[in-house]
Amino acid sequence: MTDTRRLYVKSYGCQMNVYDSHRMADAMAREGFAEVQAPEDADLLILNTCHIREKAAEKVYSELGRVRLLKRKAEAEGRRMLVAVAGCVAQAEGEEILRRAPVVDLVVGPQSIHRLPALVARAAGGEAVVDTEFPPEDKFDHLAAPSRQATRVRGVAAFVTVQEGCDKFCTFCVVPYTRGNEVSRPMEKIVEEAERLADAGVREITLIGQNVNAYHGIDREGRSASLADLLWRLADIDGVERLRYTTSHPRDMTDELIAAHRELGKLMPYLHLPVQAGSDRVLAAMNRQHGRDEYLAIIERVRAARPDIALTSDFIVGFPGETDEDFADTLDIVARAGFATAYSFKYSPRPGTPAAAMEQVPEAAKRERLAQLQALIEQQWQAFNTACVGRSFDVLFEKPGKYDGQIAGRSPYLQQVQVTAPAEMIGEIARVEIVRAGANSLFGELASPAARRSGIAAAVAMEGA
Ligand code: 5AD
Ligand code: SF4
Repeated sequence: MTDTRRLYVKSYGCQMNVYDSHRMADAMAREGFAEVQAPEDADLLILNTCHIREKAAEKVYSELGRVRLLKRKAEAEGRRMLVAVAGCVAQAEGEEILRRAPVVDLVVGPQSIHRLPALVARAAGGEAVVDTEFPPEDKFDHLAAPSRQATRVRGVAAFVTVQEGCDKFCTFCVVPYTRGNEVSRPMEKIVEEAERLADAGVREITLIGQNVNAYHGIDREGRSASLADLLWRLADIDGVERLRYTTSHPRDMTDELIAAHRELGKLMPYLHLPVQAGSDRVLAAMNRQHGRDEYLAIIERVRAARPDIALTSDFIVGFPGETDEDFADTLDIVARAGFATAYSFKYSPRPGTPAAAMEQVPEAAKRERLAQLQALIEQQWQAFNTACVGRSFDVLFEKPGKYDGQIAGRSPYLQQVQVTAPAEMIGEIARVEIVRAGANSLFGELASPAARRSGIAAAVAMEGA
């Protein structure tokens, strides 16, 4: 390699991309690259792109217009800046990116990031490089582990990819095309990664995958292992205090996974379970492989296992053919399911997916429905937060708070909690009494020692239940 040594990575979209961005930074760290926060300083600039919604490719091209100016400026200063496009737009667009944006030196798909150092070396040699293969080897086997230093900088709550890709083919979704078939990592690889993270101070691990509860890895003996098996195994690691997983498909909520929500104390009472729509007709057209009543029955079973669980979901409004009645069913399922919160999006046709060729709903109807749905979700979110006032629960402190003297952490239900407490408590879990609910966070006070003790007693009672 030449003297290119500063790396800037911009990550778009989901946590999976954040994870991949970290792994790319780790791989390049081995080659002597240090991450910088200012794109103009970069010798290697990577845009790790997302293709899930909206005019994703167009946004990348306009960002590349800005990058072109940075590259020119670097050249004027006698520096060379290599520009790479990674992620799902790279996968979907491939060589087209080099044609439309000559500023780009390297295009690398999500399944090829383990080859990044070699690809960068080739690009540095002047070659225009495109790698969007789905290689037969498992990228996870070749990814660099994060250094302790990198882990510390990234904080006490970490993500670990356990599964990637999807075989469900919902008719609106581009994931099966950009991330490919579902692949699960072997359990021991994940355990090793979790042990390293715990050793570097990580206390909470969120297992991620596009269809995480379809996880089917193998254990040390070569037997098949489910997500529930994996969660139980990870709970044995000293230092790992909290476990979460996302994103799940309703079809894969097995009895043993639901039972883990009852029996596994370290598994947090939070479940993101996208339903997308409330009408059976739309669910069928989406190829979700379940109806509304089936979904409601699943969450009833989850609630029976863990009554205080916070449920969240994803919704798409204006899916092709969605009528006012169908949309009313969506509002109805939100109210019935009692989601703590939900993410909602206007349907956006993805090139190459079946729904893109169906009859589209007018933009004005989409906009109107989204506003209505978001108002209802916001109401439920505020009600959920307000109901927390006066309760006490354990908060994992992650970072300095908004105001001096405060630190911020997460409740078991993933709410942001601000507390007046010393910065040394970052990385610790402490009992907090919630005194106020703000628009986006809760505000709390460290519980008295007596309250902490009764909290611990309650937690123990729960684990034994
Ligand atoms: N249009 C709008 N929203 C989409 N999502 C996925 N594909 C599309 C699309 N084509 C949403 C789904 C999914 C979330 C990650 O993004 O709600 O759960
Ligand atoms: Fe996309 Fe999720 Fe459906 Fe898979 S299950 S196709 S990732 S929406």
